[in-house]
Order: sequence, then structure tokens, then C-alpha cells
Amino acid sequence: MPSDTNPRSVILTGDRTTGPLHLGHYVGSLRNRVALQHEHEQYLLLADTQALTDNAHDPEKVQRNVVEVTLDYLAVGIDPTISTICVQSALPALAELTLLYLNFVTVARLERNPTIKDEIQARGFGRDIPAGFLCYPVAQAADITGFKATLVPVGEDQMPLIEQTNQIVRRLNRQTGRLVLPEARALIPDIGRLPGVDGKAKMSKSQGNAIPLSATDNEIEDAVHRMYTDPDHLRVSDPGQVEGNIIFVYLDAFDEDREAVADLKSHYRRGGLGDMVLKRRLTSILQALVAPIRESRLSLAKDRDFIMDILQAGAARGRKITEATKLKLMEALGTFRFDGES
Ligand code: TRP
Repeated sequence: MPSDTNPRSVILTGDRTTGPLHLGHYVGSLRNRVALQHEHEQYLLLADTQALTDNAHDPEKVQRNVVEVTLDYLAVGIDPTISTICVQSALPALAELTLLYLNFVTVARLERNPTIKDEIQARGFGRDIPAGFLCYPVAQAADITGFKATLVPVGEDQMPLIEQTNQIVRRLNRQTGRLVLPEARALIPDIGRLPGVDGKAKMSKSQGNAIPLSATDNEIEDAVHRMYTDPDHLRVSDPGQVEGNIIFVYLDAFDEDREAVADLKSHYRRGGLGDMVLKRRLTSILQALVAPIRESRLSLAKDRDFIMDILQAGAARGRKITEATKLKLMEALGTFRFDGES
């Protein structure tokens, strides 16, 4: 359990609803969220609107995955009676805040955002960047501030988005002369980001190098089997390289027996420890982690009404909070407000 957190934080995180979540999400933030929900006020945002910024050609996928991601949340242990799960598109105040915030950020600043730069590259947009995509950090600032979140458990690739959020917050606070909105802090896991099973820097569904939280035992076994280890570790008796060896990165992330992992590392360095021993160990650890999640997901998926009730209740709560933030901010800014009554 992360210890350096304020006793009463408001936590918000979101996930784009483009596909079921995977072990990278689990290590990057889900594990933290499950641990933190008992002591803090926590909101989870199903970011369908953000998902559309680079999936406008496939809205059906985005829609379908709202339920898939909800199942992932519940199956890993997010408790809907203490955490609130909201669909982003069901909260119109977030869109209104986004429109307002767009006036407090420049296009040049958005273009400089390192996360956006990387993502534009990865998606091969060239000069044809959807405007919604370039501006999604502003919408994400609305997500975070709409709930007045102070703590955001995310992977480290999201750091620039939190910085951008805080810059907008400071501008708004300066403009209004009040502390209308709090700044937010990112909570980054110790392990950093989980590489893909192919050894690439990031596990991602679109790269085809992810192990989903719904993976079967066989899928896990295959994925671990395919992992590259140290290319110079040809014979079991050869000394092996631990640093940058993906099996050890995974053992560091998932094996709770720290002492055993330390022993395995020194044995590997000395020579005499085969890759298959490590792979078998990792396979059974991952299978033991994923099996109950997969089972629970399957049984939850049968009760669609239960899922819909959770989303309804979450949306109602989320609407109230974000609408209140929006009204407070508009009042502080002194913007025109039409209430329709004479
Ligand atoms: N950008 C995040 C991702 O790609 C998803 C997200 C949307 C988010 N809104 C958020 C994360 C608010 C943290 C806070 O995974």
C-alpha cells in the first residue's frame, strides 16, 4: 500500500475505453486504486469521450468497452459501494469545463506536451492531428479538476498531463484571485512502467504485446514462453544478465517473495540457472493472479443489470459533483450564466 498519501485525498483516474485492461494497467495504477479506495474518496472515470479522440472511426468499439472496463474494475477488486465509477460522456459539466479551459492554454503548449508528441508519432497522424486529440489534455484537466481531485494514480507516461492540468489550475486561480481549484499530484508506482511481453518499453493492446486481465492459463503460458531473456545466456551454466532482463522486470513487479527473487538474481548472475525455471515461476505467479480476476469477470458479465445499476448510480453522483465545480468556477470567473428564468 502506497504510504506517502495525504490522509484525506480525493482520487480520480480514468481509463480510455478502447479495450479490456491488461497487466500494465494493473501494475501501473489498478493495484494502487484497489489499495487506496478504503481510505480516500475515489472516482474512476470510464473515459469514452477521450477514447473517441483517436477512435472516431469506431465509436461502437468505444461504447462496447465501457462495460468491459467496468468488469475489469470490479474483478480486480474495485468496490462500487466505496468507489464511484462514472462514464465520462454522462457528465456534461466535464465538456463545459473543457470548453472553458481551452481559453487558458495555447496551441503551442499543447504541441509541446511530451505525451502528446509521442502519441502523435505513434499514431502516424503527421499534420492531420484531430483537434480533439491535440486538446484531450485539456479535457483530462477537466476530468481531474471537475472532481477536485488531489491525487491521480497513473503510469509515469501521464506525468506531463498532470503538469498541464496544474498549469491550467494555477492560471484559473490567478484569474479568479481565489483558490477555486486544487492542484493534483500524480501517484506513480515504484516499478515504473511494465514492458510488453516482447520487451518493448510499454505494454499496450494496440502493440499486441499485452496480457489482458481476462487471459486464460494457456495464453499466459504462451506469452511468458515467448519472452526474450538475455540473448547471451545460451547455456544454463552461462552467467546471465539480470538488468533489463524482462523476466526479472516481471518478477520484480509480481513476485511477492522478494527474498526468493534476490536469490534467483544472484544465481542467474553466477550461472547455472536456466531460463525455463524462471519462466515456469513467472507463469504460475501470473496465472495465480489472473485466474480469480478472470473468473470473477465471467460471473459479473452475466449480470448486466447489476453493471448498469452501478453505472447509473455513478453517473448521478458524478454529475452532481462536476456540475457543482463548474458552477463555482463560473461564478468565480464572473462568466455569463443564463438560468432561463425571468
Ligand atoms: N489519459 C488516460 C489514459 O490514456 C486516461 C484518462 C482520462 C485519465 N481521464 C483521466 C487518467 C483523468 C487520469 C485522470 O490512460
